[in-house]
Amino acid sequence: MRHLLSTQDLTREQATAILDEAERFEQALTGREVKKLPTLRGRTVMTVFYENSTRTRVSFEVAGKWMSADVINVSASSSSAGKGESLRDTAKTLYAAGADALIVRHPASGAARQIADWTTAADGGGPSIINAGDGMHEHPTQALLDALTLRQRLGTLDGRRVAIVGDVLHSRVARSNAFLLSTLGAEVVLVAPPTLLPTGVEQWPVTVSTDLDAELAAVDAVMMLRVQAERMNGGFFPSSREYSVRYGLNDRRLALMADDAVVLHPGPMLRGMEIGYSVADSPRATVLEQVRNGVHVRMAVLFGLLVGTDPETTTGEYHQ
Ligand code: CP
Repeated sequence: MRHLLSTQDLTREQATAILDEAERFEQALTGREVKKLPTLRGRTVMTVFYENSTRTRVSFEVAGKWMSADVINVSASSSSAGKGESLRDTAKTLYAAGADALIVRHPASGAARQIADWTTAADGGGPSIINAGDGMHEHPTQALLDALTLRQRLGTLDGRRVAIVGDVLHSRVARSNAFLLSTLGAEVVLVAPPTLLPTGVEQWPVTVSTDLDAELAAVDAVMMLRVQAERMNGGFFPSSREYSVRYGLNDRRLALMADDAVVLHPGPMLRGMEIGYSVADSPRATVLEQVRNGVHVRMAVLFGLLVGTDPETTTGEYHQ
């Protein structure tokens, strides 16, 4: 695998290998006073973020540093993008400056794939591109860390039922998860008001519901989505109050779920909107486990793209 742009590009075997690798990295680091593996010594990884981020940018930086890569963070607001430099010129410049991998977040859907097309040379040279969120399209490493969290909590994804709830229309997390969780054997139901479903959703490997209460008893997990007001151009229908009443996960709704069913949220959370304060802090919520798994998943992705996954070596010397 050269780039990670979409979960739709991943086979079940490839996705499972990344999750297994992430768990091996977690085990390799457990109990270490100094969290430093030599795995990516001499490699240069650059994060290039044109949208705000806490979890994704920081966990990629931690992942790279724990594997001894040189990690450089490029913020669009302080780069020459602010002087009008094109995305193409910025990406080629960063490769010329030594990037082995570019981790890109951009508001335009398709930006990461476009950069991969621009920077992959005819002879195969060029950086690995990792999509860290492209507009309303995809966020593949988020879906991988969500899948790892679900696998750890539920034992398997095969036959498990996962509800993805809320603002599906604006959510790259929803699309990446719908395809990845389905690839890994789960049944996915999208629960949203009709106004917050994307066109073309009938082509996704999911079923659709508008009634959250009716779905909760049968699910093994709910994934609550943030309402992305910043992508709504000032309009929001239903109103935030109506949305919260009909689609917010509160204590009453948590009680409708099976005792061992879990609650995911990719963050950042809008407490009091899509998720109640006590639900977010309950032991059923996996929010911080997701963040921790994000570091290990991103280690596995960087390793897979920059070194490759050879079954003979993956449990061997690079963990020393
Ligand atoms: N889940 C997620 O992508 O969070 P950040 O925007 O903080 O990276």
